[in-house]
Order: sequence, then structure tokens, then C-alpha cells
Amino acid sequence: MSSLLLLNGPNLGILGRRQPEIYGTATLADIEAAVAKRVADRGWQVVAVQRESEGELIHAIQDNYDTVGAIVNPGALMIAGWSLRDALANYPHPWIEVHLSNVWAREAFRHESVVSPLAAGVIAGLGPLGYELAAEALLRTVPTS
Ligand code: DQA
Repeated sequence: MSSLLLLNGPNLGILGRRQPEIYGTATLADIEAAVAKRVADRGWQVVAVQRESEGELIHAIQDNYDTVGAIVNPGALMIAGWSLRDALANYPHPWIEVHLSNVWAREAFRHESVVSPLAAGVIAGLGPLGYELAAEALLRTVPTS
């Protein structure tokens, strides 16, 4: 069975309790369930990984080269996560960067992402819907095997 990697970086495991005025009230479990539901008809399973540290996220990428594609919210690692960027450069399938908030409407330090140039696409500012739209994009672009 094919699997989709859903990777979330630091501080995203506490969604629902994290600055809800910015990130909303949906939990990461809610988001993971919505993505799983969205890809179920295609027969894809979701490998959902959230880690607080860059090294563990890198391991998750290296351990999941056999997935068909990935959705990645790097959290603040977008700003200077060079090792994460290198790991994503070697991930052999399309992946989409998602941010719940519109990072360009926020502080200037959030305006640059070191991983974005490698992403197949970037979605920001649409809250949990962004993850579902990223899943939809992968459903439409990953060839049926
Ligand atoms: C975030 C935006 C980042 O700037 C921030 O550090 C996060 C969450 C988002 O989903 O909006 O942790 O990636």
C-alpha cells in the first residue's frame, strides 16, 4: 500500500493549545485525520510524524523514501533549517510546504524559508485547510502506480 509522509516540525504537536488566535483550535490529530480521510480513496495511508528537533525530522525523511510524496510544515525551521533542507533535497518524491499562518503577514524573520525553493509548492495562511489542499495537489500530481 502507498503512503504519504505528513511531517510537522517544532511546536506543532501542541496545536489547539498553541496561540489559537494565530494557529486556530484544530489539533494536530484533527489535521492528520483530515489528511488521511482525503487520501483514503486513493488507497494511501498517512505516515504522520511530528518532532521537536531537526535531527529527528531528518531521520523521519531518511526512513520514508518509500512514501509517494510528503506534506511538510517545518515550523520555525523554515528560517534556518539547513540540515532539514539538505534532507529534503534527497527526498525522492514531490513534497509541499504548508504553513497554517500567512507567514508573510507576520514578523519579517518569517518571510524567508530555506526549504521553499525545493518544494513542489507552498501553501500558507489557510489554516488546517492548507494541509488538505496539499494532499489534494499530491493526489492530482503523483502518478497512479
Ligand atoms: C508555522 C509558521 C512558522 O513561522 C512558525 O515558526 C511555526 C508555524 C505555521 O504553520 O504557520 O511554528 O510554520
